[in-house]
Amino acid sequence: MFIEKFKVDSPNVRYGEEAIEAVYRYETTELVHENREGDYQWVVKPKTVRYDFKTHTRVPKLGVMLVGWGGNNGSTLTAGVIANKEGISWATKDKVQQANYFGSLTQASTIRVGSFNGEEIYAPFKSLLPMVDPDNIVFGGWDISDMNLADAMARAKVLDLDLQKQLRPYMESMVPLPGIFDPDFVAANQGARANNVIKGTKKEQVQQIIKDIREFKEKTKVDKVVVLWTANTERYSNAVAGLTDTVENLMASLEKNDAEISPSTLYGIACVLENVPYINGSPQNTFVPGLIDLAIQRNGLIGGDDFKSGQTKMKSVLVDFLVGAGIKPTSIVSYNHLGNNDGMNLSAPQTFRSKEISKSNVVDDMVSSNGILYETGEHPDHVIVIKYVPYVGDSKRAMDEYTSEIFMGGRSTIALHNTCEDSLLAAPIILDLVLLAELSTRIQLKAEGEDKFHSFHPVSAILSYLTKAPLVPPGTPVVNALSKQRAMLENILRACVGLAPENNMNLEYK
Ligand code: NAI
Repeated sequence: MFIEKFKVDSPNVRYGEEAIEAVYRYETTELVHENREGDYQWVVKPKTVRYDFKTHTRVPKLGVMLVGWGGNNGSTLTAGVIANKEGISWATKDKVQQANYFGSLTQASTIRVGSFNGEEIYAPFKSLLPMVDPDNIVFGGWDISDMNLADAMARAKVLDLDLQKQLRPYMESMVPLPGIFDPDFVAANQGARANNVIKGTKKEQVQQIIKDIREFKEKTKVDKVVVLWTANTERYSNAVAGLTDTVENLMASLEKNDAEISPSTLYGIACVLENVPYINGSPQNTFVPGLIDLAIQRNGLIGGDDFKSGQTKMKSVLVDFLVGAGIKPTSIVSYNHLGNNDGMNLSAPQTFRSKEISKSNVVDDMVSSNGILYETGEHPDHVIVIKYVPYVGDSKRAMDEYTSEIFMGGRSTIALHNTCEDSLLAAPIILDLVLLAELSTRIQLKAEGEDKFHSFHPVSAILSYLTKAPLVPPGTPVVNALSKQRAMLENILRACVGLAPENNMNLEYK
């Protein structure tokens, strides 16, 4: 059964005027390694830690500024939100299609809230805590191409024509601000698009982005802004010691107009200085150590990297299932071909390399979780191929072959073939990223023994479900397995309203 809304009634939860306050008992373990002979060198001690959560319930009017607004993802997301807001339907060759948010965790997925008369009761994910309604988002942003969003939507060739016709009047007047462009960081084939760029030194460019954010806020009267990079994949910037490795070096390099500070890092510096959350949806190393430290110093939320939309999402499910079932994946080969501008940009070796790195590490945590299957340091062969095939446009093909060792020396080979519009997968993920980033800035917590509430660590690990190469605070384990990432996010939001984590034990029926 499905319910729209619920409220928690518990002595541990207080719904106040301004905030929901919850007391939560975090059940965890503490490991002790005892230096002695015998069977039990490792001792596990269950431990309960009290946490207090406070979630501010006043939902702000949210501005979302996209870097790469006029790209396939940016134009598709903007179009999708308008179509949903305006209740637009359109004729396809199959049927009359209604706008929806399929593929969005916050808008189209549910959580189990309990059982009633022997029936499982589910509610929308978004009913857990007050979140921004996508209808009330004001979009803006930058692009190195000055094309308005209606023309950009046509250029992207993602949405049905009848829908595009209806959306055109809403999108014609939306024109991206000039962006920071550095041809050295992207494929040479992107230069032709760059007719809308910010001039000046890198420091002046950062100042311009800060000015743009302020003016956007002023003009649209939004309470809060989130900035998200959905522009071209850049090559890795050269992380030479002394350049971007500390806040001081990063700022000194900015003063010196150093060539190795990438555009995505420049937008990041501007956002952190302006205390605006900044999320990176592409694979490059935007978050150089100096920028991470700047975010930590200023408590500015940063998140990334690289949207986890298709092939990698499947991988983080399938390998988790295989390894969890005691089956040993030994070779994973992933081919992609796509024909959109992203594919054209990725056809250069240096930008492809960023994507390759981001796609490669995704099985590490699952492999290292099973010392029965894998020796220390052993890893499946893992190969990624991406080719540009213009004809297929945004409709990306992903082909994967998983070979595993099974019982008694047997081999199992699984082959997957997925055909899908890339931007229709990415757009709902962008929406989730900005909504969850905004929500997480309204949550405060305090562990037992701490005297003051504080926000989550500025490096936002709770966005991991949505990213291929999750950025986590220094010294924190990276979790790639999709079900664990979802459980982490859902259970933290449940904790904010004093609900226990979903444990799937169903003891009441045993
Ligand atoms: P796109 O090429 O259609 O859009 C990127 C836009 O960014 C273009 O309009 C370009 O003019 C603009 N741009 C480039 N450099 C810029 C800069 N420095 N400042 C401002 N604007 C700039 O690409 P698409 O398909 O929208 O993808 C965007 C990014 O998202 C790519 O890096 C892609 O790798 C990443 N991504 C996409 C996924 C998907 O499923 N679509 C999944 C994972 C990541």
